[in-house]
Amino acid sequence: MALLSRKLLIPLLGLVLAVYFYSGGDEFKPELLKGKRTIVTGASTGIGEQMAYHLAQMGSHVLITARTEEKLKKVVAKCLELGAPSAHYIAGSMDDMVFAESVVKKAENLFGGLDMLILNHIGDSYYNFFNGDIKSVRKLMEINFLSYVTMTVAALPMLKDTNGSIVVVSSIAGKIGVPFVVPYSATKFALDGFFSSLRQEFILKDVNVSITLCIISFINTEKALKAVGDVLSYPAAPKEECALEIIKGGVLRQWEMYYKYEHTRIPLLFRDWAPQLLSSFMRSGLNVENLKGSNHSLY
Ligand SMILES: NC(=O)c1ccc[n+]([C@@H]2O[C@H](COP(=O)([O-])OP(=O)(O)OC[C@H]3O[C@@H](n4cnc5c(N)ncnc54)[C@H](OP(=O)(O)O)[C@@H]3O)[C@@H](O)[C@H]2O)c1
Ligand SMILES: *[C@@H]1O[C@H](CO)[C@@H](O)[C@H](O)[C@H]1NC(C)=O
Ligand SMILES: *[C@@H]1O[C@H](CO)[C@@H](O)[C@H](O)[C@H]1NC(C)=O
Ligand SMILES: *[C@@H]1O[C@H](CO)[C@@H](O)[C@H](O)[C@H]1NC(C)=O
Repeated sequence: MALLSRKLLIPLLGLVLAVYFYSGGDEFKPELLKGKRTIVTGASTGIGEQMAYHLAQMGSHVLITARTEEKLKKVVAKCLELGAPSAHYIAGSMDDMVFAESVVKKAENLFGGLDMLILNHIGDSYYNFFNGDIKSVRKLMEINFLSYVTMTVAALPMLKDTNGSIVVVSSIAGKIGVPFVVPYSATKFALDGFFSSLRQEFILKDVNVSITLCIISFINTEKALKAVGDVLSYPAAPKEECALEIIKGGVLRQWEMYYKYEHTRIPLLFRDWAPQLLSSFMRSGLNVENLKGSNHSLY
């Protein structure tokens, strides 16, 4: 009897949890994005590029940014082909806070308002043991964190007017410490602290601007595949689907979104009550011998 009930109980509990986590309440419809004015950063390639295409297809106005002008031009052209009512780019580097602010100003000039700010770019970082280079930690903090803060501050007046949304693309490495991404992980944890705290204040102040923190696992972007493809022992998930799920999470005003579910939500269930088990499990899945390059380790 006890065995039977346990046999029943566990799948039942699983089902309840699955239904609870999957049903976000509201349902997503592409029409929700029609005519919306959006900014996507880091949109010259990878997940950001795919988000721009989804938004274009759903009829949003898009302003994209990254450093490489030739790539941005191509993405804009494709957005227009896909049906974006308007698509523009501005090229520059997010280690410059004046540039970060000017992206928001450009959206104001082009659109006269803003509905969704999607913060997605990341600066280049190595995938290896921490090398002790503090200058590069500071620089990555500026690109991956401070520019997000700068753009949020600059965009807030417009987002308040529209009851808009801020979407912050983070990583499982922004929730759980994983090896070989020490500076990157630090910048992603910083985003969680800043935006989760800010969300609380918005609620206290009746500021109806949603903040969605996106917890993403390994995705098949060119750069990620090259850097970590041989070290991680689980397959990369498709960037197109990842991009769509991020947009859904933002439009539905979810506090956090998880993709892929099994590689983010499940480890996070273990994080707080079995951290050592989780961390040894994560290390055991790494092929450390396949680390590329010879970045001078601190140790
Ligand atoms: N791929 C994954 O496995 C994975 C896993 C977890 C989380 N994520 C997160 O998902 C987001 C997108 O990742 P991704 O894999 O799509 O990245 P990606 O393919 O490397 O693209 C990064 C984007 O940022 C731009 N960028 C790089 N340096 C910049 C700078 N200094 N100033 C302004 N823009 C800059 C790049 O364009 P330019 O070079 O032209 O500037 C590019 O458009 C990131 O927030 C990342 O942390 C990705
Ligand atoms: C924004 O939300 C507030 C409530 O928080 C509501 O009173 C207002 O009408 C909304 N404005 C727009 C433009 O949707
Ligand atoms: C906040 O804005 C959203 C989007 O306009 C709206 O659906 C929601 O009802 C608003 N929330 C409150 C508390 O008014
Ligand atoms: C090593 O790290 C530095 C940043 O500190 C980076 O510029 C360089 O490209 C990295 N080298 C390799 C081989 O990954």
